[in-house]
Parts: sequence; structure tokens; C-alpha cells
Amino acid sequence: MDIWQAIEDRHSVRQYELKPIEEDIIHQLNHEIALCQQESGLKIQLICNEPQAFQSFFVHYGRFKNVHNYIAFIIKSDDDNEKVGYFGERVVLKAQQLGLNTCWVGATYHAKKVPCSLHAEEKIACVITVGYGITQGKPHKSLPMEKCCLCIDEKTEWFEKGMQAVMLAPTAMNSQKFFLTLKDHHVDISSHGSYDKINLGIVKYHFEQGSQKDSSIWL
Ligand SMILES: Cc1cc2nc3c(=O)[nH]c(=O)nc-3n(C[C@H](O)[C@H](O)[C@H](O)COP(=O)(O)O)c2cc1C
Repeated sequence: MDIWQAIEDRHSVRQYELKPIEEDIIHQLNHEIALCQQESGLKIQLICNEPQAFQSFFVHYGRFKNVHNYIAFIIKSDDDNEKVGYFGERVVLKAQQLGLNTCWVGATYHAKKVPCSLHAEEKIACVITVGYGITQGKPHKSLPMEKCCLCIDEKTEWFEKGMQAVMLAPTAMNSQKFFLTLKDHHVDISSHGSYDKINLGIVKYHFEQGSQKDSSIWL
């Protein structure tokens, strides 16, 4: 599955089958996580067969079910949140390519139950659930693209492709509170609202994949 297919197919999935993730798939996911850790300097940990962090009243409300595997992102400062979004979404799309489903989770889990050792200044920024979904999820409602971008330069095909990928990106509470401006052959981006920095990183990753540009595109 190529990255574009993964971007199109990915939707948040909160209910999972009890089937464990195969060793080979875990190995490939851990390999991507190791690369992301190396490039970002973040602490990223795949935790398998751990049901406690999602065992709570949320289960009874039918929100999350059978979450036994998740990836924790550990940060030292809120300045790391953009990187969490960028590298977290890279892991999400890799998981999708490996036949897994995911959901970003910033709030609705028990952070204290996550079994990773934190140094004094460290905290968990968020987790991403991972496993075999009972369903593949469904496309989110989306704002029209025109509400999320402006072209000061003449619109290019790469910008259009980048924006198509951006509109498919997950954002906290599906807020889509971001704005991209094409000017001087570069792109200016802003985001606001809760989890703005994580959302910003996610959106940047989608834009780069869709437009096939690298990080030098950002103003
Ligand atoms: C930073 C971030 C935090 C999120 N936190 C939660 C959460 O605490 N609980 C939850 O059920 N979903 C959470 N989500 C999932 C969003 O609700 C979901 O991505 C959004 O509704 C768009 O749907 P989609 O992912 O299917 O495209 C979060 C997503 C992001 C990006």
C-alpha cells in the first residue's frame, strides 16, 4: 500500500479485535518507531498486551473497546508537541500500511496506568492506539478546502495535492483549525485551538506526503 492509499484509508478506529499483533508486524512497526526516535529525539514506546490504560467507564460508553496495544509519546516540554504530531502521524500511516488501525488519544485514557518510566521533567503527550479494528472506521466530516487555505501565488498542482492530504488528516475533535497560505513558492501554516501543536505536526506531515515536498517548503 503506498502512502497516498494509507492517507485515504486511515480513519480513527476505537474498537479492536482481540487478535494479537503478529511478531513480524510488531518488528516492522518498532523499526519505524526507532527511526522516528532517532530523527526526532523523542521518546516513543510501543506497549503491547496492556489493557489497563483503556479499561474504564469509556468502555461502557462504547467508545474504546479491546485496546491492548498503544504507542506512548513522552516529552520533556510542550515545545516537543509539533514533533509528536509529525512523527506520530508518520507512525500512524506506517501502521495503516502494515494492515493495522489506529486512533490518536490525548485525553480519554488513564495516563497513570501507562507502564513507562518517566523522569522528573517528562510527561506523556498522548498515545496512539493500534490493533486490528472491528471496522476500518469512516471518513470524518470535513470543512471545505477553501476555508483552510489561500493561494497568493498562482495555485500549483503540488499545493492542491498537499491540501487534499491535509483535509484527510486527523485533528483533535476533528477541529481542522489550521490554515495554509501559498506565497513566494513556499507555504505558511498556522493552527490554533486545543492540541494545536500536535495538530500542526500532523498536518505538516500530510502536506509533505501529498505534495511530495520536504520541510524546506515551510515559511
Ligand atoms: C491530537 C489528537 C488528540 C485526540 N484525542 C482523542 C481523544 O482523547 N479521544 C478520542 O476518542 N479521540 C481523539 N482523537 C481522535 C479525533 O477525534 C479524530 O482524529 C477526529 O475526529 C478525525 O477523525 P479521523 O481520525 O477518523 O479522521 C484525537 C486526535 C488528535 C489528532
